[in-house]
Amino acid sequence: MTRVLVVGGGIGGLWTAVKAADAGCAVVLVTKTELAETNTRYAQGGIAAALFPDDSADRHFADTLDAGAGLADPAAVRVLCDEGPARVRDLIRFGVEFDRGESGLERGLEAAHSRPRILHAGGDATGAAIESALVATVRRRAVHIAERTMLVDLIVEDGAVVGARLLDEHGAVTEHLADAVVLATGGSGCLYRHTTNPAVATGDGVAAAWRAGAEVADLEFTQFHPTALAAPGTPLISEAVRGEGAVLRDRDGLRCMLDVHPDAELAPRDVVARAVWRQMRAQGGAPVLLDATALGAEFLARRFPGLDAVVRDAGFDWSREAVPITPAAHYAMGGVATDLDGRTSLPGLYAVGETARTGVHGANRLASNSLLEAAVFADRAARALAAGRSHAPAQTPTALPHVPANAGTSPRHAGGTCPVNGVSPDCSCVHEEERDQDPSESVDREQLRELMWQAVGLERDAAGLAAASARLDAWRAPDVRDRRTAEDRNLLDLARLTVAAAFARRESAGAHFRTDDPAQAAASAAPAAPELEAA
Ligand code: SIN
Repeated sequence: MTRVLVVGGGIGGLWTAVKAADAGCAVVLVTKTELAETNTRYAQGGIAAALFPDDSADRHFADTLDAGAGLADPAAVRVLCDEGPARVRDLIRFGVEFDRGESGLERGLEAAHSRPRILHAGGDATGAAIESALVATVRRRAVHIAERTMLVDLIVEDGAVVGARLLDEHGAVTEHLADAVVLATGGSGCLYRHTTNPAVATGDGVAAAWRAGAEVADLEFTQFHPTALAAPGTPLISEAVRGEGAVLRDRDGLRCMLDVHPDAELAPRDVVARAVWRQMRAQGGAPVLLDATALGAEFLARRFPGLDAVVRDAGFDWSREAVPITPAAHYAMGGVATDLDGRTSLPGLYAVGETARTGVHGANRLASNSLLEAAVFADRAARALAAGRSHAPAQTPTALPHVPANAGTSPRHAGGTCPVNGVSPDCSCVHEEERDQDPSESVDREQLRELMWQAVGLERDAAGLAAASARLDAWRAPDVRDRRTAEDRNLLDLARLTVAAAFARRESAGAHFRTDDPAQAAASAAPAAPELEAA
């Protein structure tokens, strides 16, 4: 019997655990906090799939590729869109009650979808409905569940993953051996000062996979959601609100997306997020306003009951006044590189959900494709686990590229050639005097999050990335004693990887916007990040 260790209790982890158990695997599921405390639970908008007669998998495929800014993998997107409808039917069998109207399943519209195709549950509580149905389903299976148990590191023997070191709530680290480990630890929004993610989203699986030698990819592609409420905790205000007709206004009350994109508020997410960011900068940091007043109090309370409560708790009556919003880090489109069956470059290691980089999102994820991606590729991973197909084609482990300290200011060897490569005056080699730095200060999480927000946020450039890299190099990872220190170590590793990836991609693409990309330079004059007034 294949012994499978699943790390993470969101849709990807729960789905893999259920389906692998059904296929005869012996499954242990560990979660960092309580089983249901995951990014999945906070997903509002819904799940996209081509389920209606006026829609097709081909349309969904085209929309996903268009949104991905030319960098999505067509083979992965094909799988996503073709297999999506069957996975949504699975969810219904698992007990998810999607909202229904008189003519059957209700569907919403979100940015960059050419058709309304977003199923939702409880209005704006789709993630919570999926999470609770899957938690109930997994509890009915012979899956051993260990809560408050965190992944520290993977155990690698002879180039294959054979288990993991796990930290329990009392600070004890134990080794758990398995034939396969599935990483489903979610995203890493906590890398940034402003995020819509819960506190558990510290990228633990991606960091551990990288330390173990797995290939990671696309870490420069962090999706920033355009409409987080500019209030403590920056809670998400779903794109579905704009899909229902809410508009964005500047502080003088004028609509501010009309001149930016033909689809205005429903332009691709990266376009809207950057426009909001720039508008805030132009108005000295004052938040942009989301105006949902035309939708009316009764509709807002019925269609978005959770949001209605969040907005009102923050002191706003959004049926009568426009509310302040800001972009916030929302979703990691990169992660541990996988094939179409969730297999990573390390034998014995799988990744699913937000932890994985399957290639479906490219540089900009289409709204409401994330829950679908998790279900589709977790299902395939479970089938591969049951078939014992753990060996992915060999790929190269990801090295951390060097970010030159003076990048973006002047060539490193102005007037001459690099003594290491003998050619370029502006190299990215590691020089002798830069080796063996001995960082003495332990990483400060809040400073790291601020640094990432300023230097690797909605706009980046080489000089800012080089300065961020130097700051990160001056910190050392703490010894792992407890959950907090284990997370800080992961955040530091991921921050370094993200900065290096953003530095290496010199051209702008989707959510990765380089103001020093010559093609973009004209579009962004001021380098300073707006200081958010209200959050
Ligand atoms: C939202 O509801 O706006 C977020 C949905 C998503 O991230 O796909």
